[in-house]
Amino acid sequence: MAALGRPEYINIRTSSKIDKSKQAFKQNAFLVLDEAYKHGIRYFDTAPSYGKGETYLKEWQAVNNYKDTVLGTKWGYTYVANWELGFKGKHEIKAHTLNKLEEQWEVSKKMLPNLKYYQVHSATFESGILENTAVLKKLHSIKKTTGLKIGITTSGKNQSEVIAEALKITLNNNLLFDSFQVTYNIFEQSAFSVLTKVLQKGKKVIIKEALANGRVFKNEKFECYTKAYQILENLAKKYNVGIDAIALRFIIDGLEPSYILSGASNKLELTDNLKALNFSLTEEELSLLQTLKTLPETYWAERSTLNWN
Ligand SMILES: NC(=O)c1ccc[n+]([C@@H]2O[C@H](COP(=O)([O-])OP(=O)(O)OC[C@H]3O[C@@H](n4cnc5c(N)ncnc54)[C@H](OP(=O)(O)O)[C@@H]3O)[C@@H](O)[C@H]2O)c1
Repeated sequence: MAALGRPEYINIRTSSKIDKSKQAFKQNAFLVLDEAYKHGIRYFDTAPSYGKGETYLKEWQAVNNYKDTVLGTKWGYTYVANWELGFKGKHEIKAHTLNKLEEQWEVSKKMLPNLKYYQVHSATFESGILENTAVLKKLHSIKKTTGLKIGITTSGKNQSEVIAEALKITLNNNLLFDSFQVTYNIFEQSAFSVLTKVLQKGKKVIIKEALANGRVFKNEKFECYTKAYQILENLAKKYNVGIDAIALRFIIDGLEPSYILSGASNKLELTDNLKALNFSLTEEELSLLQTLKTLPETYWAERSTLNWN
């Protein structure tokens, strides 16, 4: 829902002529959600900081009353851009406090019973969340009373370390965290080994930013990826799909996560993304794509320079 619930989000577009009214966004969000459901997608991911993301998803679920949708949301960031185009400053403010958890849970719990995943939005060592006993106890109590899977999402160059630390947290002799939403794509593969362990433990892995926020598409601003763009284009031609489908298939075949999020901002992009389901990459092709990884430090430094537009 990140690209569907608010008018501005991280991407590499240079211009955009879409209607940015709330009415147009809601209409587009429902069209994309309908198309996704029609094609068999059942997991839908949102957060309070995605503008109207939670509201649209809740309304869409209520209108359709699907029994088999699996909704996930998060807590820890607040949307402050207030649908203001060209908003200066941070669009979302982070707070991993008990107050914020209690405040956002009161709203998010209205997505029950289809709500199945409740995640700490961007857990880091700096935010103190993994050591905050009051917050961890509250999450445990939510898990006990609702049966929700409790998860973390991670971003940044030390995703693997944060996941490894979160995997050690127990309450009443049980591991607290059941799911891990992580950035993983052809350029940022550093979490591969820890994610393999997470899956072996029977925990859920949800992949985000599978298209590196759009950087997998040929773009003259990113000359460093010229070789990667050529390889991706050759494979796209071979399988008669877009670059996005190759990048998504790399994750399906190489990591086999529980879910991969599509960040499609409209029906057309979603249709393209779904072409990833129509073919498989060979071992040789997977090995070739593995060589396209960059250093996490480089990847995250570059990501921090991307614009919200
Ligand atoms: N937990 C977290 O901290 C966190 C952080 C980031 C994302 N997420 C979740 O992960 C989801 C996916 O991540 P993401 O949206 O950041 O990244 P992404 O999937 O790496 O990139 C999505 C972007 O790629 C472009 N795109 C996709 N398909 C395309 C196509 N066929 N042709 C051309 N462009 C295409 C779109 O750009 P345009 O919009 O320019 O068209 C879209 O916004 C989000 O919706 C969100 O739910 C979570």
